[in-house]
Amino acid sequence: MLNKIGVIGAGQMGSGIAHVCALAEHDVVIVDIDAAALEKSLSRIDDNMDRQVKRTLIAEEDKAAALARITTATGLDALGDCDLVIEAATEDEATKVKIFESLCQHLKDSALIASNTSSISITRLATATDRPEKFMGMHFMNPVPMMELVEVIPGVATAADTVRTATAFVTRLGKTPAVAQDFPAFMVNRILAPMLNEAIYALHEGVGTVEAIDKAMRLGANHPMGPLELADFIGLDICLSNLQVLYESLADPKYRPCPLLVKYVEAGWLGAKSGRGFYDYSTDPPTPLPAA
Ligand SMILES: NC(=O)c1ccc[n+]([C@@H]2O[C@H](COP(=O)([O-])OP(=O)(O)OC[C@H]3O[C@@H](n4cnc5c(N)ncnc54)[C@H](O)[C@@H]3O)[C@@H](O)[C@H]2O)c1
Repeated sequence: MLNKIGVIGAGQMGSGIAHVCALAEHDVVIVDIDAAALEKSLSRIDDNMDRQVKRTLIAEEDKAAALARITTATGLDALGDCDLVIEAATEDEATKVKIFESLCQHLKDSALIASNTSSISITRLATATDRPEKFMGMHFMNPVPMMELVEVIPGVATAADTVRTATAFVTRLGKTPAVAQDFPAFMVNRILAPMLNEAIYALHEGVGTVEAIDKAMRLGANHPMGPLELADFIGLDICLSNLQVLYESLADPKYRPCPLLVKYVEAGWLGAKSGRGFYDYSTDPPTPLPAA
């Protein structure tokens, strides 16, 4: 049974992971090198839980109890008594390797380690730890409190028992685990990235307008969001980076990023977060734009 959970990285994902762990009655320690990020994370969790209270998904007492279970620290030594540490720091392999190398000296022998990486090899990251058999990928979806799926990814050296414990833990969070093998982009992004890329090619080749392509997939395939709307929501830089990982690591031309996507990212048109992507976000609702 995993009682105390450590979360490394107090960004968008780390905050969401801490949020759901605390609501599932785990004690949680969030560690970030940036003290301001920790403060921001606590207020983000507070706001998001407020939203859940307003929508009667949780009671005010659940929120108060969950917040009381969360502590923060700027040093990895605060994770010494954790049963599981989930790393959700910046997506940079050198950063993650450095974290794992110094983390292990503080952990108890039985502690499990997971990485929330979207694209880095779990098998390779495991070698930066002293316990590859207790290391796995645990890929939460964004926004964590809302999304049901968590991909659990064993590396080549991960023990079967570690996978069993991880899937039970995910289920206890009220989420549904799906086990993916350690291949680039795992399952969701492996399938989603080429679909979004194809929608951008369709726009680039003039098959349809932004509005028509999104309407086609919403009404014709029953997707809750159109692919271009979704690409803007995820961030066009993230979409491009997912495709580059697939293109480079699998060496298959079917993952070639659409030149229009590359051009938009070069222009700083990154989607909703930059105010412009396939839509203009200065209006409410956002206005679909012609392809540049
Ligand atoms: N954003 C998404 O949609 C999404 C979805 C699934 C998985 N992921 C993965 O989750 C991870 C985090 O992504 P994010 O979007 O939350 O990033 P973010 O930029 O919002 O947060 C990263 C945090 O890590 C902290 N950090 C950096 N170096 C650190 C160190 N050495 N020790 C402790 N903290 C450190 C930063 O200060 C920052 O607060 C990445 O691996 C990313 O690929 C992201």
